[in-house]
Amino acid sequence: MSAPKKLFIKTYGCQMNVYDSERMAEALAVSGYARTETQDDADLILLNTCHIREKASEKVFSELGRLRALKDERPDLKVGVAGCVAQAEGDEIMRRAPVVDLVVGPQSYHRLPAMEEAVQKGARAIDTDFPAEDKFTVLAGRPKAARGPTAFLTVQEGCDKFCAFCVVPYTRGAEVSRPADRILREAQELAASGVREITLLGQNVNAYHGHPGGLAGLVEALSGIEGLDRLRYTTSHPNDMDDALIAAHGNQPKLMPYLHLPVQSGSDRILKAMNRKHTADQYLALVERLRAARPDLLLSSDFIVGFPGETEAEFEETLALIRTVGFGAAYSFKYSPRPGTPAAERPALPDEVADDRLQRLQSLITAQQHAAQEAMIGREVEVLFEKPGRMPGQLTGKSGHLHPVHVTTDQLRVGDIARVRITGSGPNSLSGVATIPA
Ligand code: SAH
Ligand code: SF4
Ligand code: F3S
Repeated sequence: MSAPKKLFIKTYGCQMNVYDSERMAEALAVSGYARTETQDDADLILLNTCHIREKASEKVFSELGRLRALKDERPDLKVGVAGCVAQAEGDEIMRRAPVVDLVVGPQSYHRLPAMEEAVQKGARAIDTDFPAEDKFTVLAGRPKAARGPTAFLTVQEGCDKFCAFCVVPYTRGAEVSRPADRILREAQELAASGVREITLLGQNVNAYHGHPGGLAGLVEALSGIEGLDRLRYTTSHPNDMDDALIAAHGNQPKLMPYLHLPVQSGSDRILKAMNRKHTADQYLALVERLRAARPDLLLSSDFIVGFPGETEAEFEETLALIRTVGFGAAYSFKYSPRPGTPAAERPALPDEVADDRLQRLQSLITAQQHAAQEAMIGREVEVLFEKPGRMPGQLTGKSGHLHPVHVTTDQLRVGDIARVRITGSGPNSLSGVATIPA
């Protein structure tokens, strides 16, 4: 057999793209590709791209510029663009960037082997369909490769919410849920490969309806898989948090006490302009119900500052909401107008105003993050170790609350879950001492 061809995938954007990159690599394994960690020895380079903000999209074109130089040196190199920029701007990429041999959207990458074959014969290939067939049915089962102890598993794709600022409904299409039996099979395959924690993914994961009991039903079914100890899910929309899922946070011990529940803004007027379809008070009431089910639940959120028309008073309502909730972490973004979205038609705020608000919001969030970390000092938590730490003899893992935890130990290995007493808190992580292996 000839030596395998090498595939390098550069992944941008969200966790869904990380998962898709793995599945693309598995699809191309059938065509004789092995994944490589550098572009230097690659025969095929795929950029799995993100369209969410202007900066994310621009990265693709500057990367393509660099790849043009590389291809001048190695004319046999093939270059592909996948993901959300491919979906949104595929035709333009084909027109503007002759370096690109193939463009494939997030719903059609099961067709990559055929596209690759065409490319090898000298063609250029583009496929940004939302095909009728489900890509996950066409793709084979997950190979029995040794894996790290954590994995992503996409259970739901697409979004019907049409928030006024967001490209996802256009790049990922309508909401679709994968059938529960296939997800269970994939989770079993992952557990058999050494995975102990699965994060269920969806653009609106709690809109999942591939199980009669919704996402809560799926979590319960997955909890029965032996060797699978921890479950998480992301990203949720506040309006899709149903009673059963809220209750699951109290009655499903494998469901970890951390929830990413983006609210975007604390101003009712801005929430309405964003088409989020809930108020700040409704969000706060939801947080209360979740904390009643699971008192130590740690919450995180996404925020957009400088949305068109946002006043100083409205921004301060966002700060007030943050103070009321007390988040364990949060991601905050300066509003970026995206072509084709309704908000892009509205006049933008001056950059300095948005920059200033972003900075103020981030310092509040950082303070809350540190407070949440410091509250862990002296407590004993369970940590799943994911990789060696930066210092010799150190292991790094995550607590149930998703805090990175460093422990110096010669008793434990990657993949172990152990009880750890937290002794210190750094800028973005905790340190501790292992007590009894669990
Ligand atoms: N489905 C998820 C998040 C998808 S995108 C949800 O509904 O919350 C991830 C985050 O990017 C969003 O939560 C939002 O905060 C941010 N985002 C999306 N579009 C944006 C835009 N045009 N400008 C700035 N931030 C944006
Ligand atoms: Fe985008 Fe809103 Fe859908 Fe999230 S819910 S993916 S922010 S449109
Ligand atoms: Fe980006 Fe697409 Fe994810 S736009 S955030 S890669 S769904």
